[in-house]
Amino acid sequence: MAHLTKVKISNNNWDNSDSDLIVVGVYEDKTFSSIAKSINEQNGKLFDNAIDIGDIKGKKGESHLFYIENKRILLMGLGKKEKFNENEARLIAGSASRYAIDKKIDNFSIECFLEQKRFCQAFGEGLVLGSYQFFEYKTKKDNNKFILQNVSVMGGNSNHILKGASIGEAVCLARDLGNYPGNVATPSKLAQVAKEIADEGEMNVKVLDREEFTEMGMGGLAGVAIGTDEPPKFIVLEYMKGGESKPKVLVGKGLTFDSGGISIKPAAKMDEMKYDMCGSTVVLGVFKALAVLKPDVNVVGIIPSTENLSGGKAYKPGDVLTAYNGKTMEIFNTDAEGRVILSDGLSYASKHYDPEYILDFATLTGAVVIALGHVAAGVMGTNEDLMEKVKAASKATSEKVWELPLWEEYCKQVQSDIADVKNVGAPMQAGTIAGAAFLKEFVKEGIPWVHFDIAGTAWGVKPNSINPKGSATGWGIRLVLEMMGVN
Ligand code: BES
Ligand code: MG
Ligand code: ZN
Repeated sequence: MAHLTKVKISNNNWDNSDSDLIVVGVYEDKTFSSIAKSINEQNGKLFDNAIDIGDIKGKKGESHLFYIENKRILLMGLGKKEKFNENEARLIAGSASRYAIDKKIDNFSIECFLEQKRFCQAFGEGLVLGSYQFFEYKTKKDNNKFILQNVSVMGGNSNHILKGASIGEAVCLARDLGNYPGNVATPSKLAQVAKEIADEGEMNVKVLDREEFTEMGMGGLAGVAIGTDEPPKFIVLEYMKGGESKPKVLVGKGLTFDSGGISIKPAAKMDEMKYDMCGSTVVLGVFKALAVLKPDVNVVGIIPSTENLSGGKAYKPGDVLTAYNGKTMEIFNTDAEGRVILSDGLSYASKHYDPEYILDFATLTGAVVIALGHVAAGVMGTNEDLMEKVKAASKATSEKVWELPLWEEYCKQVQSDIADVKNVGAPMQAGTIAGAAFLKEFVKEGIPWVHFDIAGTAWGVKPNSINPKGSATGWGIRLVLEMMGVN
């Protein structure tokens, strides 16, 4: 757990804060945040002088260090005031945490420059997200393992700053699980984390083992899992604090290592397939936040989880499997396994609940990385209103989505000659949409549903102050919480 866990609200003035570092801001129009203004006035126009010389421009990314007695004062550029939005607030807070870590300062005080709730929440998120590091497996003494311990926030709306920090911690949990190697983040590990979250948040949790879910007719998960000795799990979490309202159901792909199976992947970058469970960490991250924030909502989380390996017992191209809703799937490519295990997750959601909506999250296709790069998740669904909600939440949290069409023509491409569906579409065409077209078969008609293909956004994104290099991102947790009104 290498991230900030103690965000405190401080009512101290800057000059009696006991922190080693105080962080304040200046906009491009040279107006100061309110604490920066008092520091400037109480210290002989210290900042004004630097502005006059031309050193301080207030641009984004700028930071200037001053010393007043035994304190460091960091003045950060906030950019154009009229363009300063929640995302900028998140990034600035992240930069402050990163700065402290680089300088090995284990606590600092920072001014929350704005009062609006949404800014304050984003600010709290940014402080924690920026502090995230993953060095659990670095054992040598000379490794620079330094953890930011404490941050005191001056100003702002304290409830929303702390809410943001909790959401940031939930995202960090998801990042840790994503970053753990496949021999650690196994289906059993995901089940154990689900149980811990359930204990913390008074939730129901059910973990079905291979024998149980096979017996129940989950032929998709059983079919993929038959090729591995690592025990697969089907995990169900229920958070029911929303009275009589219909549950919102989240389904996440928990493929803890994807070798491709008999249709084996090339060796290059196969290691990255430890991240193939990042759909499941969206679900676990959201439930972690629910456990801490305790909002009045009903949410169900469903995670089919296994490895996809090749071996004497593994499923094969040409095999036909039967999903939990009774539909048959012809396997053309064992590497298109995510949709096969999700067939049971979506069928289970449709059969056992009366969902307000279903959202599923999956690192489903390499094709989405070709289409949208590591910038946006591909989204496809069956209900325009729900899609609009997804897009609105995406705008609010700056986690970008882009809708691809789920037209009839594409849906026909996954029809099989000998079974109900096949697990690939037309060769070399619209691979991401084919994935969604397949999944659609397992969502009961009438239930609003959106599929998120997060193969491009779950890891590999361009690093910035809130996304470290070479790490799982925890993408999507903020968006889901926003959609659910947990904000
Ligand atoms: N887990 C992969 C998708 C993936 C690939 C994510 C590369 C991130 C980077 C998924 O199980 C997969 O292998 N999909 C196949 C589908 C194809 C065989 C129809 C793919 O994208 O190649
Ligand atoms: Mg695969
Ligand atoms: Zn996969």
